[in-house]
Amino acid sequence: MTSNDSIDTADLLAQYQRLLERVETNEKEFRRLARSVSRVEEDERRRLARDLHDGLGQTLTALKHRLVQLGDGLPGESRERLDAAIALCGEALEDTRTLSRLLRPPILDDLGLEAALRALARSLGESSGMTIDVDIGELPPLDGDVQTLLFRVAQEALNNAAKHAHASEVLVRLVSRGGFLQLQVADDGVGCDPDRMVASGGSGLGGMRERLRLYGGQMEMHSSAGEGTRLRALVPTGA
Ligand SMILES: Nc1ncnc2c1ncn2[C@@H]1O[C@H](COP(=O)(O)OP(=O)(O)OP(=O)(O)O)[C@@H](O)[C@H]1O
Ligand SMILES: [Mg+2]
Repeated sequence: MTSNDSIDTADLLAQYQRLLERVETNEKEFRRLARSVSRVEEDERRRLARDLHDGLGQTLTALKHRLVQLGDGLPGESRERLDAAIALCGEALEDTRTLSRLLRPPILDDLGLEAALRALARSLGESSGMTIDVDIGELPPLDGDVQTLLFRVAQEALNNAAKHAHASEVLVRLVSRGGFLQLQVADDGVGCDPDRMVASGGSGLGGMRERLRLYGGQMEMHSSAGEGTRLRALVPTGA
């Protein structure tokens, strides 16, 4: 080997090192930008949720009160028609509240992740008929973005259990272990081939996996036909 060869090799190694550093810097920058985008998205959802609740929600409440007042002293058939209108108004009000909560539950901002997960389990349990247990261990203080991230993952997994699994029982478990936050959502439903889950083109699981990666996290799915589904998401505690 000549000295030129060794210089070339050292030179190549140095170039390779510099390239690697550039790739790492660019990836960090990309993650930072993508995290800002999802923060902006959550801010927009929060604003829309508040507008829906305080704007349309208040108007519908006022309209319902007026309709109820109109009913005083109305005779038979007219009264029935008015009652039908009041019922419709009530449904529109309920839909508005549900949509507002789905967009961004205020409890997540007011009381944090644990309370939000319990409220989500309660309301989805009532609407779907599934029994949803929530088990939350001792957690370190969590950054707002990480709370939102874990809430969205649990929300997607629970919606999937209600929509696809025909599950009767679901367990949501959140613990902090070995430097990671571990979120598990396990259902006793019909299960599915995990490769098909990812390949099916649904934006839910794919979107969650991408969102977790932005925080240095990852997601695994374990499932097979008839054996239920278990989703496990890991996020580094310091993310
Ligand atoms: N808990 C589950 N039990 C059984 N099958 C599931 C479960 N979760 C997901 N799947 C399967 O994996 C597929 C992909 O799920 P994903 O959440 O990505 O999409 P989706 O729910 O179909 O649509 P979207 O979430 O965009 O509304 C589903 O269509 C379903 O076939
Ligand atoms: Mg889904």
